[in-house]
Amino acid sequence: MKPDRRRFLAYSGAALTASQLVACGRSLEPTAGVPRSRFDEDSSAEEVLAGIDLSGKVAVVTGCSSGIGLETMRVLAAHGAYVVGSSRSIRRAEDACRGVVGVTSPVQLDLGDLDSVVACAETILAMRTPIDMLICNAGYLGGANDRRLINGVEKHFAINHLGHFVLVNRVLQRLFIAEQARIVMVSSRRAYTDAPERGILFDDLGFQHDYDDLPAYAHSKLANALFSLRLSELLRGTRITSNALHPGVIDTDIDRNANAVQRFGLKLVAALAGKTIPQGAATSCYVATAEALGATSGAFFEDCNAVTIGGEHHLYDRSMAARLMQVSEELTSDYLVEQKIPDKEDFKR
Ligand SMILES: NC(=O)c1ccc[n+]([C@@H]2O[C@H](COP(=O)([O-])OP(=O)(O)OC[C@H]3O[C@@H](n4cnc5c(N)ncnc54)[C@H](OP(=O)(O)O)[C@@H]3O)[C@@H](O)[C@H]2O)c1
Repeated sequence: MKPDRRRFLAYSGAALTASQLVACGRSLEPTAGVPRSRFDEDSSAEEVLAGIDLSGKVAVVTGCSSGIGLETMRVLAAHGAYVVGSSRSIRRAEDACRGVVGVTSPVQLDLGDLDSVVACAETILAMRTPIDMLICNAGYLGGANDRRLINGVEKHFAINHLGHFVLVNRVLQRLFIAEQARIVMVSSRRAYTDAPERGILFDDLGFQHDYDDLPAYAHSKLANALFSLRLSELLRGTRITSNALHPGVIDTDIDRNANAVQRFGLKLVAALAGKTIPQGAATSCYVATAEALGATSGAFFEDCNAVTIGGEHHLYDRSMAARLMQVSEELTSDYLVEQKIPDKEDFKR
């Protein structure tokens, strides 16, 4: 197929989003060994947290200024959690925090700028609290098909993956001192429907060939899922778990960079068959808080349940996850800290 035609199809938002609604025909089975929840695609974040008191818990939610992140922060804070919420603009983070009931703190975070990630992590560390929930929710989707590089790496990979990679590294010490901490990676179904066939393009992280924003976004979302998988292995035996999820297809600002036709298609399908924003935040809130998931790590969730997805994809590829970790460390080495487990007594709530 000619690149222009493929690009047109790829960006006729309705067709593509429709394919997301049915997971491109793949089978989704419940993951063995993970407790089933009574929640499903219709459940909202409020329903998931009904009756749950999160007083004394601390959550960090990246991308709190709109969409799923704003709703996640709102519901966690309403249930008593202290929520640190980020945006690229401190003003937007402040507005978001002011707009929710509960105790929240705004922080500035641009995941595409690793100096900003380090500064954000320092701000969080200065709060001197354990972190019970680290919800890596912020996400970027391009729309102009400009193959922009950030530090030599394709922009989606740099923002969605490497930015969160450095953030997790820099604040991990505060998860070690929580009673039981959870890392929640907001990935996407696109990680297994639209990522490159061979998975992470280790030999082409600049995406030199046949560039399109959508596969590049999907590539970064696969990196989110694989990073979570690798974290679950590295953190085995600790009190920290790591899981990834697809929130659903939801009409949010994620399409803000798309053109008018693409946006119309995406909004139409999301309105007809997608989820509402409260439903879109349900899986994040469930994975971050459900008591039943205290020992669940390395799983991929959709509609508040862990799923095992059939067909050819790299979502559970442990050797690819290990290599991604190593390559990400090399790419960001100037920004990483060596992990040491701090003394809990140093950090009183
Ligand atoms: N909506 C869907 O159908 C869907 C489907 C699958 C997965 N997801 C994922 O769900 C997550 C939330 O997306 P959403 O749908 O709620 O979209 P959204 O409304 O656009 O929210 C994205 C958030 O990420 C922040 N963000 C964007 N670029 C950033 C950057 N460079 N550095 C730091 N923060 C940045 C934005 O904050 P500022 O602009 O204020 O910085 C915003 O708060 C994303 O990871 C997305 O990939 C969404």
